[in-house]
Amino acid sequence: MIALIAGTNRPESNTRKVVALLEGIYADLKLPVRVLDLADLPAEIFFPTSYATKAGAFLPFSETILQSSGLHLVTPEYNGSFPGVLKYFIDMLKFPESFQHRPVCFVGLSAGAWGGLRPVEQLQHIFGYRNACIFPDRVFLPEVGDQLDDRGQLKDPEIHERLRKQIIGFVDFVQRLKGVQLRLA
Ligand SMILES: Cc1cc2nc3c(=O)[nH]c(=O)nc-3n(C[C@H](O)[C@H](O)[C@H](O)COP(=O)(O)O)c2cc1C
Repeated sequence: MIALIAGTNRPESNTRKVVALLEGIYADLKLPVRVLDLADLPAEIFFPTSYATKAGAFLPFSETILQSSGLHLVTPEYNGSFPGVLKYFIDMLKFPESFQHRPVCFVGLSAGAWGGLRPVEQLQHIFGYRNACIFPDRVFLPEVGDQLDDRGQLKDPEIHERLRKQIIGFVDFVQRLKGVQLRLA
């Protein structure tokens, strides 16, 4: 199973729309995927006591990461970086097994012209530090508000195809690295 992470908790975020698109592509390809939306994080995880003791309601998040064969992370750009809630989420996960040798793939998006290049490169730095296996083919979606229609679909089929190719390449990468078979029968 691939854990597909919406890297913000902003209501109605474009990140969540792109995650829904990716989830649909995984389903079309009959590949197992589970969405983790940071908007669904339990309030208790933000208590300072969480560094020592995690609320039970956080378990579905932390266990999904541990059970996954790979992580597909979608991040918006906030102030030239990735959202603070995503760093906090990373800090709440079990160390080191959450990321150690775990394949990870990135999509960046932004209102501006750089398509989330900055947050993705900063995340690569962190995941590299944590010994994750970084899939090299990244996808960036600049001026994302203009690229999505009212139903949250990408207006340009070429960009949709780029996301589909990223998924196919990432799943191949995961299968080779981990020796697992992800395709559903
Ligand atoms: C707190 C905050 C900071 C932002 N900073 C930037 C930025 O530095 N560069 C940029 O291109 N867009 C920035 N944006 C716009 C987001 O990239 C834009 O909202 C886009 O839709 C992706 O974020 P979303 O998933 O929250 O919708 C910012 C948005 C918020 C909410």
